[in-house]
Amino acid sequence: MIIAIDGPAGSGKSTTARAVANAANYAHLDTGAMYRAAGLAIQQKGISVEDREAERILENADIEIAFDSGSTAVFLDGIDVTDSIRASEVGRIASQVATLQKLRDRMVDQQRTIIDRLEKRYGGVVIEGRDIGTVVVPNADLKFFMTATIEERARRRMAQLSDSGASVSMNTIIREIEDRDERDRNREVAPLACAEDALILDTTELSMSEQVREIINQINQIH
Ligand code: DC
Repeated sequence: MIIAIDGPAGSGKSTTARAVANAANYAHLDTGAMYRAAGLAIQQKGISVEDREAERILENADIEIAFDSGSTAVFLDGIDVTDSIRASEVGRIASQVATLQKLRDRMVDQQRTIIDRLEKRYGGVVIEGRDIGTVVVPNADLKFFMTATIEERARRRMAQLSDSGASVSMNTIIREIEDRDERDRNREVAPLACAEDALILDTTELSMSEQVREIINQINQIH
């Protein structure tokens, strides 16, 4: 059973995907974490994505995903970067490296191999990203496209940030989300898009448990 969940930043994908995987005893693959690790590789070298050196650095970056009791750990050149890839600056660079065809081709190949292995081992896998239903696994058993208004997505991001002690204005957050959406939706290669056969889940007014229940209901219907 392959379940694809796509959608913009802050639409509730990650928490929902993890909770659905837990509830169904499936594996969970967060593909954004792989692009974030690539972004971190660029950031660590102190260069910009436009630098000529960037391509070589990305080509040589060894990005691995490990599954420890179902959750995803990410390694860059053998070092566990699971926590450091969560910084918002890394997210910004990730959306820039994610426009590069060569990197995407490699990531997609790697993702398909992982998905194959996880499906065999766990019987099901919930994959979240931007191009999962359109490019990575177009033959997924179920596809969801999660959305929410920009204000709601910013509100969630704000709550996350204040939990971690950071203080940023609502306007700054809205601008950051708009920038990221714009780049993810308008890039030439594998842009964020809703697959024709995806179910659209607007989470603006849904609680997390309602989002999870909706997806579990759909899984049960095709079982
Ligand atoms: O889901 P996220 O915010 O952790 O993803 C970080 C960036 O990676 C996001 O701006 C877009 C990119 N990404 C992508 O292009 N394709 C994916 N399948 C997953 C993420």
